Amino acid sequence: MSLLSATNTNQQKVCTRPQGLDPLRLPAHVAVIMDGNGRWAKARGLPRVMGHRAGVEALKTTLRLCSDWGISALTAYAFSTENWSRPGDEVNFLMTLFESVLQRELDSLEREQVQIKFLGDLKALPKQLQKLIADATERTNKNVGIRFNVCTNYGGRHELVLAAKKLAQRSCQGEIDPALIDEKMFEKELFTAGEIDPDLLIRTSGERRISNFLLWQLAYAEIHVTDVLWPDFDSVALTNALVDYQSRTRRFGGLDPMATN
Ligand code: FPP
Repeated sequence: MSLLSATNTNQQKVCTRPQGLDPLRLPAHVAVIMDGNGRWAKARGLPRVMGHRAGVEALKTTLRLCSDWGISALTAYAFSTENWSRPGDEVNFLMTLFESVLQRELDSLEREQVQIKFLGDLKALPKQLQKLIADATERTNKNVGIRFNVCTNYGGRHELVLAAKKLAQRSCQGEIDPALIDEKMFEKELFTAGEIDPDLLIRTSGERRISNFLLWQLAYAEIHVTDVLWPDFDSVALTNALVDYQSRTRRFGGLDPMATN
């Protein structure tokens, strides 16, 4: 199955948006912490890595649904800077999985207008994976469909330190005046430069943490936690997250504009 097996203009199936959702109040950007792959596998008596394999299918489904339902960006936490501490076999499996998925899906990503980016410290990844990432980024960078950001060797604190370092270097070189550093300037040094902040963060498997994910960008995101394990995340689970999102009043630190007192 291609990554986005559904498109509209090519006579392929489009996943229709559930009726209960207000199309005018969808989040523009959804971020996901895909947790629970290991537990999903364990519950079936399978090796942990089979949970990651099943997790790829859930990610493909989520990308297809977000694209079809009119969400403009999806950002997924695929591998954190802390995940290197997992057993070597699991880390190697994940790196090989990223490579094979990219190889297999790039044609359909390109065809279906997905713009893919990998966010994180990519230099530490295996060379072959780095080459595939560079190729995928290049081949899809003019696409006009959903923006798909895959956080790989990503850590929020690391990203903030790198941004501070870059601004310090530019200040030392006389390129910028440190007194003029503001949020806009800072954002431009993050891996997510040019991307809007997520409106909704979904975390699966019931954990209530953000685990060093998008520490800057999630400042005003609504958070939806579900007990569903990531490989089981499907259109019903996504609908529930979006319905939950649409039930919230976003105030961004101000007052509810609809409140009467
Ligand atoms: C967390 O579950 C999941 C991960 C660390 C890996 C997520 C990666 C994928 C789903 C593959 C994505 C593929 C591409 C190409 C982007 P866990 O292992 O921590 O689960 P547990 O908490 O139940 O042990």
